[in-house]
Amino acid sequence: MEEMKKGLEGVVALDTKISFIDGIQGILKYRGINIEDLADLSYDAVSYLLINGKIPDETELSEYSQELKKNRRINGKQIEVLKEFDFGIEALDGLRTAISCTAHFDNENNHHTPDANKNKSIRLVAKFPTIVAALHRSGHGEPIIEPDSELSHAANFLFMLKGKIPTKLETEAMEKDLILSAEHELNPSTFSLRIAASTLSDMYSAIICGLCTLKGPLHGGARKGVMDMLDEVGSQENARDYIVQKLERKEKIMGFGHRVYKTYDPRAMIYKDVARRLAIEKADCSWFDMAEEIEHILYHEFIELRGKPIYPNVDFYSAVVYKYLEIPAELATSIFAMGRVSGWIAHCMEQYSDNRVIRPRAHSV
Ligand code: SDX
Repeated sequence: MEEMKKGLEGVVALDTKISFIDGIQGILKYRGINIEDLADLSYDAVSYLLINGKIPDETELSEYSQELKKNRRINGKQIEVLKEFDFGIEALDGLRTAISCTAHFDNENNHHTPDANKNKSIRLVAKFPTIVAALHRSGHGEPIIEPDSELSHAANFLFMLKGKIPTKLETEAMEKDLILSAEHELNPSTFSLRIAASTLSDMYSAIICGLCTLKGPLHGGARKGVMDMLDEVGSQENARDYIVQKLERKEKIMGFGHRVYKTYDPRAMIYKDVARRLAIEKADCSWFDMAEEIEHILYHEFIELRGKPIYPNVDFYSAVVYKYLEIPAELATSIFAMGRVSGWIAHCMEQYSDNRVIRPRAHSV
């Protein structure tokens, strides 16, 4: 039997055509296309690419976007069920339960044909934002806002969440956030989803496995952790003492480090640029300056402590973007899932298409 690798570090579990990561060079590609090039497209185009394996032509994109818009609404019965939830700050518990509820109302839930899975993929991508916004507003006693089919996927989410049409830059920031969160090879939540799909469980069940895994603070929960940290630090001047004391207590700094990237996470670069532009549009550089100071401090502290720097990951500057978009920290992981759902669907379909039950061994000690 193979030697055990804790956390499956460096273990290759399967082949995939969906994405490529070079952790040394800091390269991320979806279906062979660099993330830097994809970040300027729409989330519709990128989710289509991930799920269908190709960039849509104009007709394909228009039809796909129309399909998504037609499927944004959730039915009245489901809204009544959501109104019963009072999850307080655990928004992801609400989302997990609401997706289970969506499965219940989806009459193709336990149909496993490629067509049924394609139909379910449209409903999942389309409904996630509606459910996240409805849960949040209902949980805070605010009226649920119906989707607006005139707006793009990202703009419509911000509209349903906040009740006002976002600016051009806010829409761009949300679009990029969903694209950058959409896919990342065999991260913990995607791997848990592939295990479920390998047993031929249904797509909704596999997605819920992904959601439950994403909730962990060392994975999708880190973005909320960064937002909370920015609140605790409070100002650029406080950053050094705060970071040094956390390191002295051997506590992890959320939004930094990565199992695969040993250089700058290419997604963090893009988020940082968006955060900088939002700071200028909002005429408030406090969040951005604080974040950049934290990055600078950690870079040098790690060289001092361990002889090599630590870099921001996908969750650091995305948290700054959320601050400028005035997104509540409790929604950070749910919005991460809104983007990641298209990558999860792609992996689910890939597992179904060339399946072998995922069943590693363990050393009995
Ligand atoms: C995501 O896998 C993916 O693709 C995930 C993701 C995706 O798109 O799906 O990229 C999204 O989950 C990003 C990561 C979000 N999590 C965080 O930001 C939480 C903080 N980061 C750490 O928990 C950590 O960096 C991990 C979990 C992300 C990576 O951990 P590794 O590779 O297992 O690294 P490690 O824990 O073995 O760290 C090596 C050393 C340790 O010191 P020693 O125990 O050897 O003395 O570096 C230290 C760690 O303590 N270290 C940190 C640190 N990250 C690593 N110390 C302080 N703060 C950190 N953030």
